[in-house]
Amino acid sequence: MPGGLAQLADLVDSKNGFVSARIFADQQLYERELETVFGDSWLFVAHESEVPHPGDFVTRYMGEDPVIVCRGRDDQVRVLLNVCRHRGRKLCLEDAGNIRTFQCAYHGWTYNEAGELTGVPFFDAYQGKLDKASLGLHQAARVETCFGLIFATWSDCAPPLSGYIGEELAWMMRILFDRTAHVEVAGPPMRWTVDANWKLGAANFSGDGHHLPTTHGYGAALGLDASRGHRIGYVLHTDEGHCSQMRYCPPGTIDTPPYLGLPEALWPEVDARLSPEQLDVMNSHLSYSGNIFPNLSFLCVATVGFLNTEWQPETADRPVVSFLTIRQWQPRGPDGMEVWSWQLLDRDVPESWKEASRVCYERAFGMAGLHEQDDVENWAAITEAVRSPRARQLRLNYQMCMEATPAPDWRGPASAYASPSFSEINERAFYDAWLRRMASPTIPLPQAGEAR
Ligand code: FES
Ligand SMILES: [Fe+2]
Repeated sequence: MPGGLAQLADLVDSKNGFVSARIFADQQLYERELETVFGDSWLFVAHESEVPHPGDFVTRYMGEDPVIVCRGRDDQVRVLLNVCRHRGRKLCLEDAGNIRTFQCAYHGWTYNEAGELTGVPFFDAYQGKLDKASLGLHQAARVETCFGLIFATWSDCAPPLSGYIGEELAWMMRILFDRTAHVEVAGPPMRWTVDANWKLGAANFSGDGHHLPTTHGYGAALGLDASRGHRIGYVLHTDEGHCSQMRYCPPGTIDTPPYLGLPEALWPEVDARLSPEQLDVMNSHLSYSGNIFPNLSFLCVATVGFLNTEWQPETADRPVVSFLTIRQWQPRGPDGMEVWSWQLLDRDVPESWKEASRVCYERAFGMAGLHEQDDVENWAAITEAVRSPRARQLRLNYQMCMEATPAPDWRGPASAYASPSFSEINERAFYDAWLRRMASPTIPLPQAGEAR
């Protein structure tokens, strides 16, 4: 097969549990991903707490498109392509700030916080031919928010964000992102680069549980993890490819703390905001992870005692703590990505709890975190291996739990699948959704031999 697009439908065979290694290695497929997967989907761009005031902005990426996320004087959040309309210079080079105008460093064209072109040096020299009104910054077609998470899309045809996220995932997300009135970012995101294809991170967080005992086996090897990486729980996914997994540890190993280890003072507020069914799920699982298609993953883990031993001494009744992170797998070619990772905190928890949570997050999933390094080593090793002409012809295996049936005791709105050990149900759903996007009829496939 000369190019990755020649047999698109053969790349993912979720009915039989196979995914082509080519999807992690092919430049032509990658170029199409940028147009379809990232061009058509709703993409996370910022948390509302990062741009609370008029004029606040952060610079981000939608796929490989640089954008400015800016709250206007009218309080509306806009997502502006961070590229000057004159000669295409990148406009804003700062990570974040508060501003009235963005001025291009090349010839000085100036845009206001709504993206309108307001200033052009030597305007008279254009002799009345320059139409400033048509030269504002290119903008995302729509910008909407879900539980404080701001998403944008370039597509005029995308469904409303609420329909894209769907009732099932929103029900789950409320437990993590809407449990109190003020779940906020702890600070700017950590960022680092990884020599791995972006889909490996997204699929891992979607549903790969059974790497825990092997990849993260250090805890058990050091006698710190009584569960030895084993987990029980549920997985669920939606038609759009969003996935979530909720787990607890086998009886007699690690207990599930109430309210995800949040301080008791917050429990009445959580009680008031969540339904009895959501509280039941919250109080019976200690880890949550998932992925909002295509590339925003989330993770919340409670009972992480051995990661914060300085803060909480080994006593019988030591309090537990938890951390909540969102992380975005930003594509940088078929063999690279930038990881952007935020910690989220409930505003009203005590400073000592925030500090303990921060320590756990950084030790586990910060850029030098133990689990983070465990994971990316695998993804980079896959990405390197499948560059080989022989390896990229392999069909990789995703056949765990092909016979799954919905769990009758699940209390949420979706079908969830019981996960007495582990499964690959969600990973198949993720790659299925990826294939559907790639096959988008609105973006024509290049003809054979056509360069892109
Ligand atoms: S490229 Fe921006 S003003 Fe010329
Ligand atoms: Fe992992």
